[in-house]
Parts: sequence; structure tokens; C-alpha cells
Amino acid sequence: MRKPFVAGNWKMNTDSHTSVSLAEAVASGSSDIAEQVHIAVIPPFVYIPAVVKAVSNARIAVGAQDVYYEQKGAFTGEISSSMLKDIGCTYALCGHSERRHVIGETDELVNKKVGAAISGGLLPILCVGELIEQRKASQTEQVVTKQIKNGLQGLSAGKVSAVTIAYEPVWAIGTGLTATPQQAQEVHALIRKLIGEMYDSQLAGEIRILYGGSVKPSNAAELMAQADIDGLLVGGASLKADDFVSIIQAAA
Ligand code: PGA
Repeated sequence: MRKPFVAGNWKMNTDSHTSVSLAEAVASGSSDIAEQVHIAVIPPFVYIPAVVKAVSNARIAVGAQDVYYEQKGAFTGEISSSMLKDIGCTYALCGHSERRHVIGETDELVNKKVGAAISGGLLPILCVGELIEQRKASQTEQVVTKQIKNGLQGLSAGKVSAVTIAYEPVWAIGTGLTATPQQAQEVHALIRKLIGEMYDSQLAGEIRILYGGSVKPSNAAELMAQADIDGLLVGGASLKADDFVSIIQAAA
């Protein structure tokens, strides 16, 4: 039985005060349902320690929005998985669409990050998803398959059991356009089948696959009702505590 998982990606938002007040409001708003759902908040790097402290008495994990693949050394500006683990992080996003399409990260780089996150003791959330042109050209299956195969390349089933996958169609992120529950379910089922082919049916049955892309309180329940949607990766709506808590309730 896969326990629902809801994560809030704050992206490059909040400040030293609002990061803490948002984390506290999520913690208090979700306290009565936090046993039924895995909850994570993913603040900007610099606010992670304050947020870890703010949720220390709650059942809320903290994640990072990115991670570098080396553990230490001359890599100016980068942050390693062991550093993130050291300050209380549990999760790290790897290959979020904004890093792929704004910053230019490749599948090869994302693969190294996933591996390094696991070696450093973090749980990676591998993000995949097609562009609108690719969907229109019926290439969704091909694109997502390639991103998953390349993203998990060289990782054993034991390591991949630490991974959560997030399917986020790029055209649905921050646009107000959400994939229909059927469109999302179709890709989630494909991903689960692919994991079964690459590894085994046990891992395919256990791996958590989240949907992301304009998730709101009004669409969370119907997305969560799909057989292969195990949780939600929420951007914009995770910046409002009430909305994020409503989404957690819909997932519970
Ligand atoms: P959104 O972002 O909910 O604002 O569309 C989702 C994401 O990028 O993870």
C-alpha cells in the first residue's frame, strides 16, 4: 500500500520571515492528518535550516530544490547531498522542469544528481514531463520513457527504491492548465509499467509516482482518485498554507 505523499515546491519564493510562518502554518493546519500522508516542504536552500527548525515538532519532512553530484570540493556555488543531509533535509528534487528547461540540465546530469542524492542519504524526487509540442506530436510516451531510463541509468533496484518519481507535464506547470485526471493516469500507468520492465513488479508496485502541474484544492481529489497517482508535487498553491493544507486533506 503506497501512502499518499504531498510535497510543496516553493521555488524561488518566500523570505526569512515568510518561509518560517508558512512552514508553521502548514504544520499546524496538517497536524491531525499528518499520520495519513507523507508531507514535505521544499524551500529555497538558504531557508532550509529555519524551516527544519519550524517543523521540528511536526510530521513534515524538508526537501531541497536541487543537489549537486559531487560531495565536496572546488564546485563554486553548488550544494552537496551530504550538506543537505547535515542540515536536516530528507528529499531533493532532481531534474525539475525549470532546471531542465531554464537552466539547461541534461538527463546525464540529472542521473548523476539522483545517484549522488541516494549516496548522500537523501530521497530523490526525479521529475519528468513533456513539452506542449511533444504532447501535440504524440511524443509523450517516448519523452517520459527516455527521461526515466536515462535518469535511473546504472542504479540498482535497491537504490531506486529510495526514489520518488514526479510526472509534471511542462505545459501544466505554473500555467493554470492541469492535465486531466485521465491524461495524468495514462502517463503514471506507463511509468509504473516501465519500472516493472526495468526492474521488477515489486518495485513497480511500491514506487511512488506524484503528479505535478497546476495542482489546486479544486482538482487535487480527482487526481488522487486515479489508481497510479500516489501524491502531488505542488508549486504555486503550496505558497498559501490554507490551499496546501486543503490539498493534503484531499490526498489523505
Ligand atoms: P505549479 O508548479 O503547481 O505552480 O504548476 C508545480 C511544480 O513545478 O512542481
